Formats: sequence, structure tokens, C-alpha cells
Amino acid sequence: MKDFAGKTAVVTGAASGIGFALAERFAAARMRVVLADIEEDALNRAVEQLRERQAEVIGVSVNTMVRESVFDLAKRAIDAFGKVHVLCNNAGVASTSSVNAAIWELPSAEWDWVLGVNFNGVLYGLQAFVPHMLEHGESGHIVNTASLAALMPGGGTYGVSKHGVLVLTETLYNELKARGAAISASVLCPGFVNTQIHDAERNRPAELRNATGPSPSGLMAAVRAMLEQGKSPPEIAEAVAQSIEEDRLYILPHPAWDDFVRSRLEHVLARGGPATLDLPAMLARRAQGEDF
Ligand SMILES: NC(=O)c1ccc[n+]([C@@H]2O[C@H](COP(=O)([O-])OP(=O)(O)OC[C@H]3O[C@@H](n4cnc5c(N)ncnc54)[C@H](O)[C@@H]3O)[C@@H](O)[C@H]2O)c1
Repeated sequence: MKDFAGKTAVVTGAASGIGFALAERFAAARMRVVLADIEEDALNRAVEQLRERQAEVIGVSVNTMVRESVFDLAKRAIDAFGKVHVLCNNAGVASTSSVNAAIWELPSAEWDWVLGVNFNGVLYGLQAFVPHMLEHGESGHIVNTASLAALMPGGGTYGVSKHGVLVLTETLYNELKARGAAISASVLCPGFVNTQIHDAERNRPAELRNATGPSPSGLMAAVRAMLEQGKSPPEIAEAVAQSIEEDRLYILPHPAWDDFVRSRLEHVLARGGPATLDLPAMLARRAQGEDF
């Protein structure tokens, strides 16, 4: 999709982090933007911020874990702006409680929450919006936010959910091309980005509270430090906009991790055990100023 101005974008998880940067980027390109999020106060602030820049935006409260809520978002976006051209299924949560228990020991609530938001939320987005986007026939694009975790072994519930988003998007891309559709798809696989994802627990529904106990505080501090030194959300939004223009399926804005992705695939082809991440070596490279 080359022409952004005058078209409409819907972004989930738009109240914060990567989602807000995407909304800002699209508004700057003179698109109309629907910001959707579960966190209403943050959503209202985000909408106000963009309106102050004369952007044509609305905010819609959504819980992407809930199919009806995502269908309601589609209806409200279409009611407000007529046609939707860009859909960013970006809302996501991360849980470090996977470190407290082996995957067979994790309570179902843990899987229900992380897969519910990160995978089902994306799937519901496709179910709610793709028929409309095909029907109006204008050029458009869908961006599903996965993670580098989709290209690495491990990662517990989070890694599983993001692998799902990756293969879902690869399938979507092929199916759209096979139908000669005017819309295409990308999967966003960032490494560390400086956002609020370390505090994702703020959005966990009470009935799905973590039964494995809190994550070790040292781990949370380390995750937070990695995020703070990561790329900025606007850098990621820029990579997304460029990939939409160039119709690239894979968006990998952290090339410093390419060697690890390669090593993972080599381990698969060697038919042995999985690649292991040498985090201290990665951190040492970053300490030497390498771009992460
Ligand atoms: N920050 C990183 O380092 C990083 C790396 C790779 C992938 N990601 C992915 O990027 C996406 C955006 O995360 P972020 O880093 O900007 O974090 P963030 O916490 O700043 O933003 C996530 C947004 O999603 C919203 N959200 C959470 N649950 C929701 C639900 N059920 N329904 C609707 N909205 C909901 C939150 O309120 C928040 O505004 C996520 O999918 C995340 O997994 C982030």
C-alpha cells in the first residue's frame, strides 16, 4: 500500500508503546486513526494528544481477548470512517511467571490470558476486519505484532503465542496473494523496545490472576533494563510504515539478532536440540555500543 493520506487505520493496543507510535505515525501521514485499547484512561490521553495535533482520530475501548468486543470495534470503526484500510493487531501482554513453573505445571489461567490476548486477539481481528477489507476492494494492509520470540526457542506462554502469530500471518499473506487481493500482510518481530510491556500485569483480568506467584524481582528488573535500552517505539513505527509501503511480510527491526535467528534454523536442520541464547554475550555486545 503506497498511499496513506485519507485512508483509515485501526490500531489495537494503541494507548501505549508501539501501538501509540503506530497511531502517531499514521496520523502524521494524514490517515484517520481508530485507537483501540483496554486501558481507558491511557486511551483517552492518547486520543487527546493526537487531536491536539489536528489528527482525525477516535478512541474505542476494546478487550481483544473477547471476540464480540473485536467485532464491535470493527463496527464502530466502519460507522465512524466508512472503510478500514490498515489494521494493526498489536495489543499484547507478556508474563514472566512462566519461569516459576514448567509448562506442564502452569495453570490454565496463564495460557488463557497470554494466548487469549496475543493469539486469539489477532485471530479475532482478522475475522472481524478481513471480509470488510476484501469487500471494499481498495488497497490496504494488515500488520500483526509478534516478536523476535516468534523466531526463538523458549519464551514460555509468550513464545508459544508469538509463534502462533507468525505462522498465522504467513498463512494470511499467502491466502491474500492467492486470491489476488488488494490487501497484504506483515508480521512485526521486534526485539527489545522501550515500552510498558514489563508492566503488562496491569491489564490481567482478575479471574485470570497468576496462581504461580510473583515473578522473581531480579528478573523483572533485568527485563525492564533491557527494554529501557531497547529501540524507541517511533523507530519501530517507521519500520512498519516502510514495510507497508514495500509490501514486506517479515518486519525485523533488530538486525543484531539475525545471527541468533540463523542459529535457531541451523539447529532445526541439524535435527538435535534447540539453539540456546547466550544473553551475557548479547549484553556485552550491546555494552560495546552495538545497535540493538
Ligand atoms: N516492548 C517490546 O520489547 C516488545 C518486543 C516484541 C514484541 N512486542 C509486542 O508489541 C506489542 C505492543 O506491546 P508494547 O511493547 O507496546 O507494550 P505496552 O504495554 O506499552 O502496550 C501494549 C498495549 O496493549 C494494551 N492491551 C493489553 N491487553 C489488552 C487487551 N486484552 N485488549 C486490548 N488492549 C490490550 C495495553 O493496555 C497497552 O496499551 C505486544 O504485542 C508485544 O507483545 C513488544
